[in-house]
Amino acid sequence: MSLKNKVIYQIYPKSFKDTDNNGIGDIQGIIQKIPYLQSLGIDMIWVNPFYPSPQKDNGYDISDYMKIDPIFGDFNDFDELISKLDKAGIGLMMDMVFNHTSTEHEWFQKALKGKKKYQDYYIIRENKAVGPPTNWSSKFGGGAWAPFDHNRSYLHLYDVSQADLNWRNPEVREELYNIVRFWLNKGVKGLRFDVLNVIGKDEILVDADDNEAHEKALYTDTPIVHDYIKELHEKTFGRYPDIVTVGEMSSTSVENAVLYTQAERKELDMIFSFHHLKVDYKDGNKWANKPFDFLTLKKLLWSWQKEMINGHGFMALFWNNHDQPRSNSRFGDPEHYPYETATMLATVLHALKGTPYIFQGEEFGMKNPNFGHIDDYDDIETKNAYRELRKKFSDEEAMSIIQKKSRDNSRTPMAWNNSLHYGFSTATPWLRMPENGITLENDLAHPKSIFRYYQNLIHWRKNSDAVQNGDLVPVYENHPSLMIYERNSDKESLLIIGNFYDKSAEVNLNDYADFQKVFGNGPLSLLSKNTVLSPYETAVFIKSKEVSDV
Ligand code: GLC
Repeated sequence: MSLKNKVIYQIYPKSFKDTDNNGIGDIQGIIQKIPYLQSLGIDMIWVNPFYPSPQKDNGYDISDYMKIDPIFGDFNDFDELISKLDKAGIGLMMDMVFNHTSTEHEWFQKALKGKKKYQDYYIIRENKAVGPPTNWSSKFGGGAWAPFDHNRSYLHLYDVSQADLNWRNPEVREELYNIVRFWLNKGVKGLRFDVLNVIGKDEILVDADDNEAHEKALYTDTPIVHDYIKELHEKTFGRYPDIVTVGEMSSTSVENAVLYTQAERKELDMIFSFHHLKVDYKDGNKWANKPFDFLTLKKLLWSWQKEMINGHGFMALFWNNHDQPRSNSRFGDPEHYPYETATMLATVLHALKGTPYIFQGEEFGMKNPNFGHIDDYDDIETKNAYRELRKKFSDEEAMSIIQKKSRDNSRTPMAWNNSLHYGFSTATPWLRMPENGITLENDLAHPKSIFRYYQNLIHWRKNSDAVQNGDLVPVYENHPSLMIYERNSDKESLLIIGNFYDKSAEVNLNDYADFQKVFGNGPLSLLSKNTVLSPYETAVFIKSKEVSDV
């Protein structure tokens, strides 16, 4: 399947649409909204995990990979979803969380009961004379080891309830491949592999020095990960036609990203990388407030685009997902320029090379809820971070960081309309919903509708030769407020412009005076020596190549 003109929509099922009115979204809710998804123009939905799970990490702690958690529905609902999506021309991408299982998974439970076979499914090591096997940290705070029995510990790179699997054991890999085939046989068309580049741990695990990057390097992008992915490809999705695959790659390098996605290597179609979303970290620390660094953001986007295009790799393009704060709150001003911010960010992203992902609610401008109390947040990473922050800061200071950084920023339920609980559910939602007037109903009633802009953007992208096949040339790379780039294919050239700030900006675009405007979100109509962009304005201009040029 050609991915170049596809757009994928991410659904966080707990927060999408509740039909059995228990405050938690469900599969029937997704089914109900298929016409909505269809009208947006997307090709595939990626649904976050809906397997049985103790929900310590919102479904990323799986206790049974081949069942559906009853809070979301059952296999009848699932089959109905697949068949109705199919009729609507939409594929289903499932989340495969294979770095770890929940400690409530039967494999871990059998391991605890002493079954050697299952102990070898996990990464269990003897403690040192004093302390755990290594000094590694968990990505959710604290140490990465928890006691397994009196003298051994198990590794958990994430929550203590998420035990890392031992991919070195061929039996583990076979179990996981079996799970993939099970879902593919049920009609799943896409696979999103959670934190896939940390599956390749060594047999002998060693202490890290004080440098966080050195520590991550001990288990990230190790060469054996490529071997595992090749095997996964060969034994599972490589045997089925047109399966779309994406790997979530924690702190990966562009060199590895190219290797993971070059078609002839038969690994994955594309990867998610996160470097561009770390430009508001303070010295690498997520849990500190800092305005985003625009020049670094551009540098990262350009260098990744160029190297992926040159190396024949392929990218997933995204500003938002269930682990990120809302991008319009982060990179724009949704209070004063909600429409301009949302449409500018969408335009400059969708015109890049890759497959864009839209995270639910983004298409009508949902923003960070700014809840004032820690009890309004649910996420385990957020709660752990709050506890740590409170050791150093007042509640107010800690909350100002939580409000900007929490993963729950994106997880608040969909605000469909202006009725009770915003049409998400008739019961109290599992996570508080903000009262900020941003609903799909309000957006559609507005002459400047973000949703309608997305519809047009997606439609345009599907038919744009330069977006799909063109090279990328950054323009005025060091401009402090504008992102400008060309995309050039044999047939046409595009100029894409976005103003990332709330001040007008002037720029000399005389070289593009013969380009014509395709669309945008503001008044700009011609390019000239004194082109002025309004706050958060964006536009796409085109020049078709003469026949004689070709
Ligand atoms: C990925 C998921 C995230 C989860 C983590 C551990 O990063 O996107 O939500 O907490 O993996 O599974």
